[in-house]
Amino acid sequence: MRILVTGGAGFIGSFVVDSLTDEGHEVVVIDNLDPEAHDGRPDWLRADVDYRWGDVTDASVWRAALPGCDAVCHQASKVGLGVDFADAPAYVASNDLGTAVGLAVAHELRFSGRIVLASSMVVYGEGAYTCAEHEVVRPPPRSVDDLEAGRYEPRCPRCDEPLKPAMVTEDAPLDPRNVYAATKVQQEYLCRTFAREHPGVTVTALRYHNVYGPRMPSDTPYAGVASIFRTALAKGTAPRLFEDGGQRRDFVHVKDVAEANRLALVTPQGVGGTFNVASGRPSTLLEMAEALAAAHGEGLRPEVVGGYRLGDVRHVTASIERAVETLGYRPSVLLAEGMAEFATAPLRRSPRRR
Ligand code: UD1
Repeated sequence: MRILVTGGAGFIGSFVVDSLTDEGHEVVVIDNLDPEAHDGRPDWLRADVDYRWGDVTDASVWRAALPGCDAVCHQASKVGLGVDFADAPAYVASNDLGTAVGLAVAHELRFSGRIVLASSMVVYGEGAYTCAEHEVVRPPPRSVDDLEAGRYEPRCPRCDEPLKPAMVTEDAPLDPRNVYAATKVQQEYLCRTFAREHPGVTVTALRYHNVYGPRMPSDTPYAGVASIFRTALAKGTAPRLFEDGGQRRDFVHVKDVAEANRLALVTPQGVGGTFNVASGRPSTLLEMAEALAAAHGEGLRPEVVGGYRLGDVRHVTASIERAVETLGYRPSVLLAEGMAEFATAPLRRSPRRR
């Protein structure tokens, strides 16, 4: 197949490119080498890949790269929480306008292949919970009073009793709670609308959980917690955990995420729909930090410092059953071994700070 990978020079995209190219597919990449994530050209670029340096908001870049492609794997995206609301236009431009421009060119060129979209678990907002009395419930955002008082666990909106975290399934209601999350929901809707209006097009949205692994950008305002902790250890400082360290997440290795993309792109019958992409083995933040710190050595231990970030959700853990059954996805990297590799993998060069 000939496959266009947007963001193919980046953290996840480059692993998708490796896996497709190694399997004999012809890969074209669109990437703008965003200076917030890259300090020049990364050293994992490949001679057997056709890189088009440009931005996904530029229709001419899509027009040059898309002809002849059987599939588009859309990874290019501005990620994370950003600095503050002033970042909103940049997120919407890069993620939503970029997607709309690509789809408009796909329409113009009568593209009729597959679209695989990098989405995120942030579209769910606070994860899934059960109450002993009221079964499945959806707690509202945690209040400042509760967070200030160290009451971190969401409580049942009906009886105020503590809740048990559950595994989120793909049909959970969407509840984006930050700008990035809102742009991911919009990307999913734009792609689905395109598919409805273009017979033959299949859209697969992969909702990534907390991805980590080699090539991850080092600590920036846009980085997730695994990168922040890895950067801290590299500087000889302890990872600092907010709240009580009991937040639950699903840390999934980048190679497993790349494999989910490969499966969605190349399975003989296009598999449309939405899929959680996670390891299927959630952990607390403290467990992850301990595994990482232990593997790093040098005696640094994680420190639970308390405090909170207002936009954070408490627990988000996913059911991967649908991806396992429909895509044949089999995550293979266990937390301990993945963190051991991550603890010593070279960090990506520091990007230019704003
Ligand atoms: C993260 C990403 C989100 C992405 C999602 C799935 C960010 C900011 N968030 O969401 O974009 O879609 O994974 O891949 O990139 N924490 C600490 N100490 C720190 C930093 C964070 O304890 O120094 C805690 C936070 O309070 C939170 C948890 O770690 O409880 C996870 O934080 P983070 O990785 O930033 O956000 P996610 O909500 O998991």
